[in-house]
Amino acid sequence: MASIPPAFSQCFPSPKTQEDNDRDEEIYKSYDNLTSQLPILHHWPPFSLIHYQSCWIPNVLLPITVAIQSYFNPRPADILLVTNPKSGTTWLKALAFATLHRHTYSLSNHPLLTTTPHDCVPFLETLFNHRTIPHLNILPSPTIFTTHLPLSLLPKSVLSCRIVYLCRDPKDTFVSLWSFTERMSISLSGATNRNEGFEFNKAFQLFSQGIAPFGPFWDHELGYWNGSLRRPEKVLFLRYEKMMEDPVNHLRRLAEFMGCPFSTEEERDGVMEDLVGLCSFDKLSNLEVNKGAVNIDGETSKAPVAPDYYFRKGKVGDWVNYLSIEMAEKLDAITKEKLHGSGLSFETSTAASICASSQV
Ligand code: A3P
Repeated sequence: MASIPPAFSQCFPSPKTQEDNDRDEEIYKSYDNLTSQLPILHHWPPFSLIHYQSCWIPNVLLPITVAIQSYFNPRPADILLVTNPKSGTTWLKALAFATLHRHTYSLSNHPLLTTTPHDCVPFLETLFNHRTIPHLNILPSPTIFTTHLPLSLLPKSVLSCRIVYLCRDPKDTFVSLWSFTERMSISLSGATNRNEGFEFNKAFQLFSQGIAPFGPFWDHELGYWNGSLRRPEKVLFLRYEKMMEDPVNHLRRLAEFMGCPFSTEEERDGVMEDLVGLCSFDKLSNLEVNKGAVNIDGETSKAPVAPDYYFRKGKVGDWVNYLSIEMAEKLDAITKEKLHGSGLSFETSTAASICASSQV
């Protein structure tokens, strides 16, 4: 069970009253029963995926998802960061946290230097994973939360707060997801042979069919894309590739949306550039706290997901090193078809456009 970051432990009053205990047991038991009624359809290491309300959920997350659906009730000032897995969640968490708390922490003594972005901004899936409903409204307002759940699986009340969605090209997301899964499954099984991990072609086939954690990938993106068109004041839709191109301007937009815009003085003093530097791949991935494959005692970490798993290359277009042209074209075609007519597209990063620009 993922541990609760210290700043969030106050959401779990201890000791619990017998009444609270009985209520929690009853709630989670009914969700467990639901899990056992749904068929397990596919394996995506280390999870089995079940199809719940048109989304592929890791089976261990179903009770948690239902608890979030029933009990997550954000306050208007709260901020919810949402991503498909491997779309840059870690980066977005760091940027949003550093921006919201910039008047509290100095750069030289910043929590992000000693705490992982995932411990600064926890997943709802972690907070609801303790067989007790967390008292989130005890937290300072605004608080930043994160989830991978699609909009369709979140309670209606979620639109009372502000949502920041970060999307990424499906080819890069797939490669990043496979690399992460492969590394995790090898670590969990103790296997040393790459062939014992998660077979690349098998993963590609599943992903292309929409079968991946929190998939289908395209439905996830379209849900929030359409939400951002309908309620732009409530849903900010960002793109990993564009943020990599111009992080400072995107940080400005993020701060405005979060209700804490940078002042003229801050702009003049280079505060945005400083925060972008603090949250950059190079800076974060080189901090001891984010290396983590080796723990403080110098031993190899036994955690299934060590902090360094979240930092691989941080590059746009790394798919060219993994996908054949046929695979890339297949994902591009699926993407084009699924997003057709929505106004959302990944046209600039298709295999065809990359090949054309490399021939110029
Ligand atoms: P790659 O595997 O392509 O390198 P998530 O945080 O959603 O799990 O996504 C992980 C992806 O984001 C990885 O992509 C990782 O390297 C990249 N990433 C992590 N921190 C980043 C940062 N500060 N800036 C840009 N990319 C980052």
